[in-house]
Amino acid sequence: MSGVVSMEPAERRATVERILADPPAVHPMEASPEPRMGVWATEPSCYRFIAERCAPGTRTIETGSGLSTVLFAALGARHICCTAGQEEADRVLAHCGSRGIATDGLRFEVGSSHATLPALEAGGTEVDLVLVDGSHAFPLPQVDWFYAAAMLRCGGTLIVDDIGLPAVSVLVRFLELDPRWRRVSGTDKWRAWERQVGGTLSEDWTEQGFYRSRRDALLQPARRVVGKIRHELGRRRT
Ligand SMILES: C[S@@+](CC[C@H](N)C(=O)[O-])C[C@H]1O[C@@H](n2cnc3c(N)ncnc32)[C@H](O)[C@@H]1O
Repeated sequence: MSGVVSMEPAERRATVERILADPPAVHPMEASPEPRMGVWATEPSCYRFIAERCAPGTRTIETGSGLSTVLFAALGARHICCTAGQEEADRVLAHCGSRGIATDGLRFEVGSSHATLPALEAGGTEVDLVLVDGSHAFPLPQVDWFYAAAMLRCGGTLIVDDIGLPAVSVLVRFLELDPRWRRVSGTDKWRAWERQVGGTLSEDWTEQGFYRSRRDALLQPARRVVGKIRHELGRRRT
């Protein structure tokens, strides 16, 4: 459990602004032997939205690490951060340590999320908020969503960053079509949904009638008619 036991909304808002004004240096900002360190952060509005939904004790999970990880710790979340490298975890912990931000509610799962998330889901972990912001290469956003969002309780919040990137946009299109995800906030860069059901995300494609291309949806009645005619012709021949 984190040391933070209660925090008024105004205090949470102040916490975000403090962290935005003093971000952690977690990521190399250029490919060079001695890169300048910074953070691949998203828009301030996303962190403000997280703070709105994250009272102390909120159960949260994210893929990737950075400013968001420091924020979850400072808000007193019971937070799991699935990030690729130990060095990022160390930088987050050092930043928190030097600012007096408690990290007892923070747990790192180090390694690629496709390897670390399945055990968490299989172990029955349940969370209130998920941030998908790890690898943006196809199909990792989908993999992150599949395992992490399966742990999201009904009514919990899913946030996806970098929605304009190709792989992420495929996931976003699906979520926008699926009535089990209700969009609640976002910008051109990030988007948030509230989950309308709980439990696994593993299902048959036949349970995803909403997920058809416009062309498929338009052609469906014609295909049904052609199928019936073929069936009838075949029946008459026998
Ligand atoms: C855009 S940054 C995350 C930024 C962070 N959410 C913030 O608000 O500052 C992407 C992160 O994903 C991590 N990452 C990349 N590939 C990953 C993978 N396969 N599994 C887990 N994390 C990964 C990177 O190391 C990096 O920390």
